[in-house]
Amino acid sequence: MNRHLISAADLSRDDALLILDTADELARVSDRSIKKLPTLRGRTVVNLFFEDSTRTRISFEAAAKRLSADVINFSAKGSSVSKGESLKDTALTLQAMGADAVVIRHGASGAPHRLASWVDGSIVNAGDGTHEHPTQALLDAFTMRRRLSTLEGRRVTIVGDVLHSRVARSNVLLLRTLGAEVTLVAPPTLLPVTVESWPCEVSYDLDSVLPKSDVVMMLRVQTERMNAAFFPSAREYSRRYGLDRDRLAKMPEEAIVMHPGPMNRGMEIAADVADSARSTIVEQVANGVTIRMAVLYLLLGGETL
Ligand code: CP
Repeated sequence: MNRHLISAADLSRDDALLILDTADELARVSDRSIKKLPTLRGRTVVNLFFEDSTRTRISFEAAAKRLSADVINFSAKGSSVSKGESLKDTALTLQAMGADAVVIRHGASGAPHRLASWVDGSIVNAGDGTHEHPTQALLDAFTMRRRLSTLEGRRVTIVGDVLHSRVARSNVLLLRTLGAEVTLVAPPTLLPVTVESWPCEVSYDLDSVLPKSDVVMMLRVQTERMNAAFFPSAREYSRRYGLDRDRLAKMPEEAIVMHPGPMNRGMEIAADVADSARSTIVEQVANGVTIRMAVLYLLLGGETL
């Protein structure tokens, strides 16, 4: 494996399978009453969050602590970033404090890549702008593999605001590496112009794709990143691209519903669908801790499992 995890494209099929298999081992530890392992004792993991997060930030912290690493949580709010300190100077400060791994979330696409050229430790991308979120794709693949036993030949439909989604890009790259067939469904205004070069199919008609899907992953409509009108109204978006009970009934019986969170209930996904037995949304959050344990363990060369 590479020293850093910045893009899902950094992962070969063998790397991805190693992470998923290691997470399977670690999931057994998470089922024990004492969940802690001594593997990263003496190592320091810095969580460097310049953008808001609930799931990713907390699960990286839980993952590092379960492996007995020392954890430093840095949030841009309340730090010297508000006095104008640059990313580079922030990074060098953390380096001086002995960070073995830096987990970074940043609003600028490419920030983790820049960070990797300034510090010695491993860099883990926890979401950069509209670019990538590789550990989300790994936890999604882990969840799919647990539910569907294999990803080879599985048909995964990713629906919604692809344009602003780092989750969509990382999922398309990783799922192709793992042998799944991916279809993106979105209004044309919410697809990036480069989508033709992505290794997936594209459709504008959700109802025709649902009956052929093993997995339907709904994406959050990211209104906070929208500086123009990308669809006529929330109601119209929901009517054409939202997953409600009627659409759920069109999916094969064993097919699952995923969402990376946070959700806009009632917009891209109806509340009863999000809370249904077909939904893996809470499972995805739990699997996030396990996958992030596996990533930290493999990047920092933990000794015994
Ligand atoms: N899925 C995800 O990245 O959620 P958070 O923004 O809460 O971390």
